Amino acid sequence: MSSVNKNGKHSMTERDTKVQGIFDRITDSYDRINTLMTLGRHAQWCREVARRASVMPGGRLLDIATGTGEIALAARRREPRAEITAVDFSENMLERARTKPGADGIAWEFADAHSLEYADESFDAVTHGYLLRNVSDVPRVLSEQFRVLSPGGRVVVLETAPPRGLLKLAVTAGMRIVLPLLGRVVAKDKDAYSYLESSTLGFMQPAQVAQLMREVGFTDVDFETKYLGTNVILWGRKPGP
Ligand SMILES: C[S@@+](CC[C@H](N)C(=O)[O-])C[C@H]1O[C@@H](n2cnc3c(N)ncnc32)[C@H](O)[C@@H]1O
Repeated sequence: MSSVNKNGKHSMTERDTKVQGIFDRITDSYDRINTLMTLGRHAQWCREVARRASVMPGGRLLDIATGTGEIALAARRREPRAEITAVDFSENMLERARTKPGADGIAWEFADAHSLEYADESFDAVTHGYLLRNVSDVPRVLSEQFRVLSPGGRVVVLETAPPRGLLKLAVTAGMRIVLPLLGRVVAKDKDAYSYLESSTLGFMQPAQVAQLMREVGFTDVDFETKYLGTNVILWGRKPGP
């Protein structure tokens, strides 16, 4: 659970520090494993997230948990005149993102998603990929996004979803074998990828995430599952003009 100090700021929990350490360790292998695990679809989903965020020329977009920057870079390619800020709490991930082609026009900054240092209504769109299953306080993280969005602003979320239905057994077994194996062979870090497997299988169903988004105030919330229901893109809007 979250740990909030007397100034209303989130202090990093043991879990947050563990997650930060894992992403700092797997930076070098992250893009390769992501491409392998999604059979190349991750890039396509990042483009869809950028499209749904539909930031206009001069519009302000915040990509949280940007990692190696794929969503922010997709948004930049889509609208080169947008003002894009991309944040993460892993300095190693940010370092990697800063070296990618197209990274120059993006502001890459350190931030914990539980306590964003931006004023209310600073952005027209907020995006994030694979953030929620890693945080210690999902409602707080969503409320922060609601706070920094301007009225009418959009949030677009890429997440994993635990398998369900007829394919549940097969997909679960596949993930239990494939993720730690890729972790051992490609990243040489089995523990980190075991964490990714357990955090994916133990996360909420998309309908529960959508409900939390509504509870913090977003309207027009909906989602579309991808890849045998194991990934999902959700979207919503802050009420306003
Ligand atoms: C699985 S990666 C996703 C990266 C990228 N969004 C993508 O789609 O490939 C998750 C990222 O979330 C970041 N992260 C996790 N918890 C965070 C938090 N509380 N605040 C900021 N970043 C966080 C990690 O450092 C990591 O870079």
